[in-house]
Amino acid sequence: MQHWNRRDILKAMGFATLGSVIPSGVVAKNEGILSSEPVPSPRHPAPEKPVRVIVLGAGARGWGAYSSYALKYPGEMEVVGVAEPIPLRRERISKAFNIPQENQFETWEHVFDKPKFADALIIATPDDLHYGPAMVGLDAGYDLLLEKPIAQTWQECNDILQLTEKTGAIVAVCHVLRYTPYFRKMKQVADSGEIGDIISIKHTELIEHIHMTHSYVRGLWNNSDESNPIILAKSCHDTDILRWVTNQPCKKVSSFGSLSHFTESNAPAGSTERCTDGCKVERECPFSAIKIYRERRIWMHHFSLDEVNDETITRELQTGRFGRCVYRCNNNVPDHQITNFEFENNITASFSLEGLTYDPGRITRIFGSKGDMYGDGRNLRITNFSGREHYTWDPSQSRMFESGHGGGDHGLMHDFVRAVAFQKPEILSSTIQVSMASHLMAFKAEESRLNSRVETMVLL
Ligand SMILES: NC(=O)c1ccc[n+]([C@@H]2O[C@H](COP(=O)([O-])OP(=O)(O)OC[C@H]3O[C@@H](n4cnc5c(N)ncnc54)[C@H](O)[C@@H]3O)[C@@H](O)[C@H]2O)c1
Repeated sequence: MQHWNRRDILKAMGFATLGSVIPSGVVAKNEGILSSEPVPSPRHPAPEKPVRVIVLGAGARGWGAYSSYALKYPGEMEVVGVAEPIPLRRERISKAFNIPQENQFETWEHVFDKPKFADALIIATPDDLHYGPAMVGLDAGYDLLLEKPIAQTWQECNDILQLTEKTGAIVAVCHVLRYTPYFRKMKQVADSGEIGDIISIKHTELIEHIHMTHSYVRGLWNNSDESNPIILAKSCHDTDILRWVTNQPCKKVSSFGSLSHFTESNAPAGSTERCTDGCKVERECPFSAIKIYRERRIWMHHFSLDEVNDETITRELQTGRFGRCVYRCNNNVPDHQITNFEFENNITASFSLEGLTYDPGRITRIFGSKGDMYGDGRNLRITNFSGREHYTWDPSQSRMFESGHGGGDHGLMHDFVRAVAFQKPEILSSTIQVSMASHLMAFKAEESRLNSRVETMVLL
């Protein structure tokens, strides 16, 4: 069993730069002082036999993001069991992987009625159902792929960490951005000293207005009393990237933000409880559920329809959560939030979460003592002050998995199956031990927002 102290965690984070996806697409405009070559990555061979997994929650993530890896790479991963209450979803995954009837369960608890019958669990249940399966699963001897957030409170996160260390299990937290060529390159440049010491960072997450309404106004993460604060639910990826890139523990946090737009007081005259109730402004409303779901058919993976057609979608909009007027959703999570962090070595970072944006994406600028790095979510531009040099790094030319989150979903699975097969947690860059620090940053940011004060942190 491996005991992790802070040094081990930092070591693991450093190791994380040596990912298994080799970034190769470098357009060097002016070679010289700047090194445009990627750090060579250690390659991990494929497992000799498929890693056997049980999927808990076969929804958008459990089925779409992760099981799809086994369909593409059946020699590396096999889905041998499922727990999923929605029959359609349970049947879909069972059929795809020929899961025997005795390994199909309605809810996660029933998986543990049987002795251990796989190597790992994929925990992709809703946020309030991470803690239970993680604790019971660890106790039963499984390794875990654990969707973020790890759990809903800091205490619960710690419980899972303690049990992980006690059992010696491998627990990967799904910080999928760490497994994309784009963020790996960002981390590699930051670590290499190319731009000198990191002085400060400015990072923005653009949620995009339709995504905002789907997930954080109408959707499952719209009310922090029922799910989680948005800074944890959506932006623990961002706190994680900041922690990873700075490679320093965070000391202090302050945060402001509120729900400004999606409130009943902003409901236009003529609008109704549901878009299907004869709303007078439905045609001109950018958030019309009829336009988004029935006409454009986007974000449909959170619907559970036997058949997708105008009639079934209309019925869903008349009764389900996604048909509600965005100004009348019992939502309370902010639609904009700004957070400042101070790390060791006096590094500062400002993070802006924006719900009302036209495009989605993440924009990052890292200011170093010798140069700076600007990323627009697609390309990175790295500059050097003294040589007045710059080059642009385009990840589309590097080896990349064709999957969600810029290739990160399958990039994570690639490393996860190898970590489990060879029992080497160091293959992963987002073990639970490493991910605790950025979860704490998110919990503290929310405390700061609610309490209107600067929060100090234990150094992780
Ligand atoms: N890593 C990322 O970037 C990322 C992105 C989106 C969501 N998530 C997280 O992934 C998790 C799943 O999100 P999703 O978008 O797939 O949601 P989803 O609703 O599509 O999937 C969750 C599934 O869990 C099932 N479920 C509910 N109760 C269950 C139970 N008792 N036992 C077994 N299954 C049960 C639901 O029926 C559903 O099919 C959430 O925690 C979410 O925050 C992570």
